[in-house]
Amino acid sequence: MTNSMGTLFRITTWGESHGPALGCVIDGCPAGLPLDRTDLESALQRDVPDRLIGTPRGEMNRCEILSGVFAGRTIGTPISLIVWNNDARPASYDSARDTLRPGHADFTWLARFGHTDYRGGARASGRECIARLAAGAVAMKLAEMVGVRFSSRPIEMAGKTIAGEDDYELARAEILKHAEAGDSTGGIVALTIRGMPPGIGAPVFGKLQADLGRALLSIGGIKACEFGEGLAAARARGSTHNDPFHFGSDGQIETTTNLCGGLLGGISTGQDITIRLVVKPTPTIRIPQQTVHVGQKEPVTMRYEGRFDANYTPRVGPIAEAMAALVLVDHLIMSGLLPPTRLRDSAPGSP
Ligand SMILES: Cc1cc2nc3c(=O)[nH]c(=O)nc-3n(C[C@H](O)[C@H](O)[C@H](O)COP(=O)(O)O)c2cc1C
Repeated sequence: MTNSMGTLFRITTWGESHGPALGCVIDGCPAGLPLDRTDLESALQRDVPDRLIGTPRGEMNRCEILSGVFAGRTIGTPISLIVWNNDARPASYDSARDTLRPGHADFTWLARFGHTDYRGGARASGRECIARLAAGAVAMKLAEMVGVRFSSRPIEMAGKTIAGEDDYELARAEILKHAEAGDSTGGIVALTIRGMPPGIGAPVFGKLQADLGRALLSIGGIKACEFGEGLAAARARGSTHNDPFHFGSDGQIETTTNLCGGLLGGISTGQDITIRLVVKPTPTIRIPQQTVHVGQKEPVTMRYEGRFDANYTPRVGPIAEAMAALVLVDHLIMSGLLPPTRLRDSAPGSP
């Protein structure tokens, strides 16, 4: 199983969608970082931006810090975080028992592990991401210390481009129209990382875009990840795709444009890192679907009556920010910009 990520700043997540709780262990967080549960809970509140289209699940996302923090500061030991599930409803999946949901991970889990968790997919559920959000909140606090900031927004949902607030409402109406008919929709999320100093990352197998891509593509339902100009680079020419260099106001080397998305040779240029993520439509839908019953070994029509996220694109943004923060903090520690063991003003043991 692959539930851990990172080299020096390493996380392990655990827990299932319909179990009592989910959580994570962060190993490698330097001592001296101010941290309490309100930091984490405010990050977790970002998982429910729009309950009508995002998630009908009424989770409070209460979080507890079980280890690694004393008197409001990290102490350099593993940080253990737990987030309780308070609105799991496994019974709503009873009608789908032994029936493989098209588009979900039921069949592949069965093929790999010999069983499948019919109650929402266990760790293949979007709910698994709550532990990533908690870990990401810690990484973001560290990243902010060196001026690295993360933002994201849906730029397309249900086939509608979103430039402003009005577009969001139009897209939302389109999502709800399909949801009423029992169907789901997908979208595109734009992720921007600002304040990255130049020279962070590594060549060959340690390329920053490879590590970012791996982390972002590990989010359930993400089908593609574009950096900078992305797919459009295939149709560009060198003369139009290359970003020219110039000296900035402080004499530092900068690129005039940023079509490379802030990354060259797997290392940051110092410009914004720009990424787009393709979010596929929610697989579990109420429209009847052709599938098979594993026990009866017969074709069946699946008629699911439970809850599903009409469009989880708005939820992907904060999760993508968290994943990017986890990757970048690991690289910032490896490059020496963040300290591996203690922050300068820390007083471990006597905060
Ligand atoms: C925040 C979030 C919420 C999700 N909500 C649902 C959902 O309600 N129902 C569902 O079938 N899939 C949902 N998904 C998508 C599945 O997790 C994903 O499609 C599944 O794990 C299969 O993995 P794959 O699509 O990456 O192959 C969600 C994903 C995320 C990130």
